[in-house]
Amino acid sequence: MTTTQQAPFVPTPRAEGPLLEVRDLHVEFHTRDGVIRAVNGVNYSVSAGETLAVLGESGSGKSVTAQAIMGILDMPPAKIPQGEILFQGQDMLKMSAEERRGLRGAKIAMIFQDALSSLNPVLTVGYQLGEMFRVHQGLGKKEAKAKAIELMDRVKIPAAAARVNDFPHQFSGGMRQRIMIAMALALEPDLIIADEPTTALDVTVQAQVMDLLAELQREYNMGLILITHDLGVVADVADKIAVMYAGRIVEQAPVHELYKRPAHPYTRGLLDSIPRLDQKGQELFAIQGLPPNLLKVPTGCAFNPRCPMAQDICRTDLPALVEVSEQDGGVLPGRRSACHFWKETIHG
Ligand SMILES: Nc1ncnc2c1ncn2[C@@H]1O[C@H](COP(=O)(O)OP(=O)(O)O)[C@@H](O)[C@H]1O
Ligand code: SF4
Ligand SMILES: [Mg+2]
Repeated sequence: MTTTQQAPFVPTPRAEGPLLEVRDLHVEFHTRDGVIRAVNGVNYSVSAGETLAVLGESGSGKSVTAQAIMGILDMPPAKIPQGEILFQGQDMLKMSAEERRGLRGAKIAMIFQDALSSLNPVLTVGYQLGEMFRVHQGLGKKEAKAKAIELMDRVKIPAAAARVNDFPHQFSGGMRQRIMIAMALALEPDLIIADEPTTALDVTVQAQVMDLLAELQREYNMGLILITHDLGVVADVADKIAVMYAGRIVEQAPVHELYKRPAHPYTRGLLDSIPRLDQKGQELFAIQGLPPNLLKVPTGCAFNPRCPMAQDICRTDLPALVEVSEQDGGVLPGRRSACHFWKETIHG
């Protein structure tokens, strides 16, 4: 973090090019037991109006990457030894704390899994929504309240005007998550990062909240990073997917391509774990074993102890994230895999 004189953030206007670009990002935690490499050379990008889903089991580094983007990692224990996080072309890692604070909420907003712990239990939702406008836009109490009601309407909370003075616990889980979405939308940010936004909800409510998020994202033409461990929830809303395992991206693809033909055995395992309506009653295939302890990541491919396709080379050589092509050599745009046997996986 620089301590030089702070200039206000002036976004570089760019008609093309991604809104956000994460380049070779590394995040470490220095703990008493050793160094945990939670994010290990991650690259991804998202453009205006685009949804990137970041997928992976718990502990794969999805949230830590998001927290690095938001600038909300506690440093220490976290450290960012390497990488760039470009927002509208400017590296946020080189900005002052004040410049970054100016971006949070106004340009980049985040939605967390647990609305109940993100909202203040002793303040009405109207007050908390209105606060966004009072603090950031200097609106008076009355105007801020009107804006809060408008936002509650936008996220389809029934009888918004009547409920604006209710407290968080008076809403259902799904409605609370809508309030979180409203908070994130308040200042019309360019980018929203939603970290497991529906994980705590019932399946039917999950779908409604996800649809709402997708609808608003299109309407506002925002970039959306949707973090989830559940491949089932992203199929209809994401444009592209990055699959993470043990702090690295192991596969990247446009969403429909990934579903049709996974190029990594881990992705295939995740796909096989999704409950399917046509296979009712059948036992779900689940990937055997657990993700590694990040203090003891297996050598070679980190997935090798769990991989049904593992060979000797997998236990010694780390596979690079390489472009994936057709059998005739034609490139598949946007597709990458970090597997020594991606050809066998995708064409097999
Ligand atoms: N505050 C912390 N201190 C030490 N290690 C951490 C901390 N936060 C996260 N980690 C490590 O980073 C890993 C990735 O975490 P996270 O990004 O939250 O995973 P997820 O993919 O489930 O979101 C965790 O498994 C843990 O080892
Ligand atoms: S590199 Fe080897 S262990 Fe890793 S996913 Fe590919 S086949 Fe499996
Ligand atoms: Mg997480």
